[in-house]
Amino acid sequence: MDNSYTIAVIPGDGTGPEVVNEGIKAMEAAAQRFGFALNFVRYPLGGEHYKKTGEILPDNVLDELRGADAIFLGAIGHPDVKPGILEKGLLLRLRFELDQYINLRPIKLYEGVATPLREKGPDDIDFVVIRENSEGLYAGAGGILKRNTADEVAVQESINTRKGVERCIRFAFDYCRSRNKRKKLTLCGKTNVLTYAFDLWERTFYEVASQYPDIETDYAHVDATCMWMVKNPEWFDVIVTDNMFGDIITDLGAMIQGGMGIAAGGNINPGGVSMFEPIGGSAPRYAGKQIINPLAAISSVQLLLEDIGEQKAAALVEAAVKKVLKNDIKDVSAGKMGYTTSQVGDMVAEYIKTGNSGV
Ligand code: IPM
Ligand code: MN
Repeated sequence: MDNSYTIAVIPGDGTGPEVVNEGIKAMEAAAQRFGFALNFVRYPLGGEHYKKTGEILPDNVLDELRGADAIFLGAIGHPDVKPGILEKGLLLRLRFELDQYINLRPIKLYEGVATPLREKGPDDIDFVVIRENSEGLYAGAGGILKRNTADEVAVQESINTRKGVERCIRFAFDYCRSRNKRKKLTLCGKTNVLTYAFDLWERTFYEVASQYPDIETDYAHVDATCMWMVKNPEWFDVIVTDNMFGDIITDLGAMIQGGMGIAAGGNINPGGVSMFEPIGGSAPRYAGKQIINPLAAISSVQLLLEDIGEQKAAALVEAAVKKVLKNDIKDVSAGKMGYTTSQVGDMVAEYIKTGNSGV
């Protein structure tokens, strides 16, 4: 078979392994339906593995991951491991080393899902955040002087390179064009205060914009973006922003689309290996109970299939997710679905095997 893909799987911690299993079911159903082959290679990385072995991300594993067609990640984060160790050593290291410079976060309210925005429905909440994923405050620049003294100084700098900013903005314009909805790209920044970093972002944005006359441009400060996401989410089509602001507004986005149970994301290197994950974290208190919603993981499988070029399979995965949300699940929150994690995965897989992309 010529279309066969190697998918590296990192189930990770907490509820990660449970939701990953359901994502794999969906991928296998899609592969069967569309006649491609998947070779899953599992890597036991995460908090448990770190506690047992002291290893976070060995170099030989990283090298193997470079050879995969895509990476499917469950969740990283362990209650016994100090915050920062796994996040920086595993998740951020993967993003940086594999140069996954785009964090793609669709914010889409599906029919049948409750949003806290009383007057808004699926027609109003349907946009995508393109978050820069390799620089900014996440670059790790800075340091602490005179730690634990009265004269302590902590500096954390935001790194913004012309190259890094431009490739992200270009990706966002291209994405907005191919998404072909409202064809409007909003730059989210803070040009009134961060007058160095967002000066670079703003100049680059309008320079690149001149090459995309079919795309309407817009600008909003990050605080105002939060306000509009709640008040008028229908104004947005695609938002492009830096790493830190993107981190914050995508959690807000996850809430207005119904919660972490359905929020998916992709860490994308358009010319390399990309990694897909539900954005909800490891939720240790729900682990092993079969009550977590696997739809966020399954929607990240949709993004993964799009990335490897299996567009039809991706469309069918989305249709199956929509169908389960509309017909079966009562509530997307953990423990309130009316089904176990694996029952939800089974229903999705069944819809993929038997359904078509029109819901
Ligand atoms: C996310 C997460 C990560 C981030 C954490 C776990 C390091 O919140 O993917 O949004 O801040 O990027
Ligand atoms: Mn986040």
